[in-house]
Amino acid sequence: MPPSDPQTPHAPISSGITTPTAKSSRQWPSEGFTRAPYWVYQDEEIFLKEQEHIFRGANWHYLGLEAEVKEPGNFKSTYIGEQSVILTRADDGSLNAMLNRCAHRGNMMTREAFGSTKKLYCVYHAWSYTLKGDLSHAAFSQGLRGEGGLPKDFKHEDHGLQKLRVETICGLVFATFSQETPPLEEWLGEVANGIRRVLKKPLKVLGYDTQRIHANWKAYHENPRDSYHANILHTFYGTFGLSRMSQESGMILDKNGRHVYFYTKAGTEKKSADYEKTSTQLRSHNDGLKLEDPSILKWSDEYGDGVSVQILTTYPGFVLHQIANSLATRQICTKGPGQTDLVWTYFGFEDDDEALTERRLVQTNLAGSAGMISVEDAAVCEMMQHAFGDAQEGASFIEMGGKDLDISGSSKLSERAIRNFWHHYKLDMKL
Ligand code: FES
Ligand SMILES: [Fe+2]
Repeated sequence: MPPSDPQTPHAPISSGITTPTAKSSRQWPSEGFTRAPYWVYQDEEIFLKEQEHIFRGANWHYLGLEAEVKEPGNFKSTYIGEQSVILTRADDGSLNAMLNRCAHRGNMMTREAFGSTKKLYCVYHAWSYTLKGDLSHAAFSQGLRGEGGLPKDFKHEDHGLQKLRVETICGLVFATFSQETPPLEEWLGEVANGIRRVLKKPLKVLGYDTQRIHANWKAYHENPRDSYHANILHTFYGTFGLSRMSQESGMILDKNGRHVYFYTKAGTEKKSADYEKTSTQLRSHNDGLKLEDPSILKWSDEYGDGVSVQILTTYPGFVLHQIANSLATRQICTKGPGQTDLVWTYFGFEDDDEALTERRLVQTNLAGSAGMISVEDAAVCEMMQHAFGDAQEGASFIEMGGKDLDISGSSKLSERAIRNFWHHYKLDMKL
């Protein structure tokens, strides 16, 4: 297909560069958080402002699992927005996060995704740092034969790596650039209960993949907040009964509306005339489809509460899912205004037996980046980005279930979590 074909998912998207005339005339629609203007998904200036106000602003960002840096000396490199960050486990067992950028002249401290070391060493001029980010040695700081060297007033303690605040919940590690961000559990509010429910025991990492999505990060961030689409877009949910609108379900937001999780209980069908009427219109509910091998759908109720699907999203870039027995975190890493890396970490628990581990791995084909369910989310984000093009006018319409920020109610037929996202986005961005 030619690159300009709107059905080609990887065709180049707009550079996001717009003319001054177009930019100066645009404003957020007067309807506020019930609209998201299409220019907000494409623009380079907006993207840079997001890095400052959201990613380096007063929010907590997921860095990884404690299980990934289990032993003293372990480190992991990752991202917050565009910033490369190192997470370490120091000798005293503490978790530390710092910019992956040498305090001398800004070289990258490590190119490794994971590793184990006694110190962080910069290859450029051999400055080295402790695992807490303090400068321990600067090569030739005294000069040589009475010449060169660092100034007499140079103090090692003034030249450490830039440190971030770190906090954890149930084995998830979060960091923030800001001293203003409230403590993590307070910031998560009621949504912390959704984390506690899933992460009830020590974790074991099963594997990773990273998915490059050719769409703005916000298009993806809206998706797991969007309980309305789940049983409509995803054929596997509806057809094979893992999640249907007719089943018992709920959606919980924290009191500030920043974070959300929703759940469904398989096997709790309540027939109703209006559901029967609507479901015949859904392409996702197709009783004619059968699986040659239905074992992928076999799951055990390991939490004992009947919940077959729970999707949890924290602002602005973290997802935790339990879909049948598949457990994973998804981390949104921005790659410019038109691209996003979604880092999937699949895990189980340390005490899982072989059969349960096997089932979790098999179900990555259901709920992994290329899984029968979740593959459609990235596809739809890319289709949206194509459709936005370089539009300077037009906006999405977000009034399912109301026009306000009311977080109450349990219906999943609601875009209240998305309205609340745009509310916080507008506040952070001062738009
Ligand atoms: S840039 Fe790291 S030691 Fe010079
Ligand atoms: Fe989805």
